[in-house]
Amino acid sequence: MLIFSGTAHEELARRLASFVGQNLGAVDISRFPDGEIMVKIIENIRGRDVYIVQPICYPPNENLMELLIMIDAARRASAARITAVLPFYGYARQDRKDQPRVPITAKLVANLLVAAGTSRLLTMDLHAQQIQGFFDIPVDHLHAAPVMVKYLRSQNLENPVVVSPDAGGSKMAYAYSEMLRCGLAFVAKQRKGPSEVEAINVVGEVENRNAILVDDLSTTGGTLTEAARILKERGARSVRAAVTHTLITEKGMERLKQSPIEELVTTDSVPKKEWKGCPIKILSVAELLGEALIRIHNNQSVTSLFKISE
Ligand code: R5P
Repeated sequence: MLIFSGTAHEELARRLASFVGQNLGAVDISRFPDGEIMVKIIENIRGRDVYIVQPICYPPNENLMELLIMIDAARRASAARITAVLPFYGYARQDRKDQPRVPITAKLVANLLVAAGTSRLLTMDLHAQQIQGFFDIPVDHLHAAPVMVKYLRSQNLENPVVVSPDAGGSKMAYAYSEMLRCGLAFVAKQRKGPSEVEAINVVGEVENRNAILVDDLSTTGGTLTEAARILKERGARSVRAAVTHTLITEKGMERLKQSPIEELVTTDSVPKKEWKGCPIKILSVAELLGEALIRIHNNQSVTSLFKISE
């Protein structure tokens, strides 16, 4: 097994490799003067089981292109198998044609990964589970929930309720509520623009409860902060959020700071930001991904990684 990292999130790749008991593979990634990307794998990878770690986070187009070029380099260097490790699969929100004349970019990304030479994909908390079907190669889809739930349990919240901030997140919220053995509620949300949302209603019991908003990702923070506002309005005692991928913008940070959200629990699937006083707890998924790599390499089941200990 050989693990390589792109430049998107070397810290996570290093942690993952160290869990597996390896150093990162030697690769030289540079830019030509006109901005084109140049990749050179320094060591011999002929016949090896190669893993390339690269979340498609900001800047997504640079990171995606770099990943594709690394995969191409590995294929041409005769790697036996190439696993693209995407702790965060960018463009996943463009997963259907919900208006005339729009692309399905999540499918385009899948096509590009396969065309470049990807043999299998390892990813985590896809925006929609169905994206797995965009691939005709094996996909291992991990969930951050076991890591998050362990932390949330340690907080010993009294009378908690898991809340989905929109209809699309209901399955994920249901899974959390099962693991935390608590109630479930939903916020009805309306998107008014790329960074503006409105929470219209809450379905479920939230009064006097400690609410935990659960979502796959946060960018402008609009979804979370609007949901938190309406939850407080409906009598929630406190509001926390558990979000796998936090790609928060400057505006999002401001919103978070001014919102009633007491703590945002997230993972290191994408690089850390300068959090400027936001109440945030970052949990590492390096071990989860590392364990998945070991199991994939040894042809063992990864299903048990979805379970949490009682
Ligand atoms: C939506 O379906 C997603 O699960 C997130 O709730 C949404 O994309 C978050 O975006 P923002 O932080 O900009 O509201």
